[in-house]
Amino acid sequence: MADCSIVCTEARLDRFKDMWAKGDTKWHTRGVNPLLMKHQNTLFPVNKPMKVFVPLCGKDDSVKWLAEQGHTVVGLDYSDIACRHFFIDNQLEYVREEIQNPHTKGDVYTVISDTLNITVYCCDYFQFKPEVQKEFDAVWDRGALNAMDSVNVRKYASVMIPLMKANCINFTEIVHGFPETLSIEIIRAAFGEEYNVQSIDKVGPHSEHYRKVGATAFELLRIKRKHLTTE
Ligand SMILES: C[S@@+](CC[C@H](N)C(=O)[O-])C[C@H]1O[C@@H](n2cnc3c(N)ncnc32)[C@H](O)[C@@H]1O
Repeated sequence: MADCSIVCTEARLDRFKDMWAKGDTKWHTRGVNPLLMKHQNTLFPVNKPMKVFVPLCGKDDSVKWLAEQGHTVVGLDYSDIACRHFFIDNQLEYVREEIQNPHTKGDVYTVISDTLNITVYCCDYFQFKPEVQKEFDAVWDRGALNAMDSVNVRKYASVMIPLMKANCINFTEIVHGFPETLSIEIIRAAFGEEYNVQSIDKVGPHSEHYRKVGATAFELLRIKRKHLTTE
């Protein structure tokens, strides 16, 4: 009997790939995420350069903006259209190479720039291993955890946790009402008892575009390990 979680994940990847190919990317809007802008000084202080992971980044402009604040930014998306167009739309030159890891199949795009530090992995998030990248100081998650079926939330957290430094802060935006609301309780259960999942802001839909697709609110969560071990 086929493993449903594998079949569902593959079907989901094909669906996203198809949406990118058809340009059916309702979630994508130009500009930097409003909650990221609102809390930028506390989330990503300019005078404290960090290594930031942006999972399932699509071609989100926040990746470039974070790099412009002096951070080292690592994005990841399965769609090669999304990865390429992130660089093309932002007029950034890049090199594309194969990921050198037997468990993580895909390509890695690296910006050619003297000032910006951006790498985007084009691969399946669920195959992403700490051997490829780890030790993140921060995570900016917009539309990644939120894009998971509730059955995959635990699996999502199990990939994320080993990538996060002990004191890493993970900021995750949850959309209420579109396509459905992912409950904080499910996220808490997925990260487990060692992690605090705290709501730090909740605002109305960012734009008319989101109101039209059924979004009722955007909530920003802060996910952080409770007790630091001495390393
Ligand atoms: C809802 S979109 C959000 C994109 C982006 N974060 C934004 O805010 O514009 C979800 C993205 O996740 C990507 N994706 C879905 N499942 C994935 C997986 N298992 N591994 C890597 N990328 C995936 C899709 O290609 C899509 O770009």
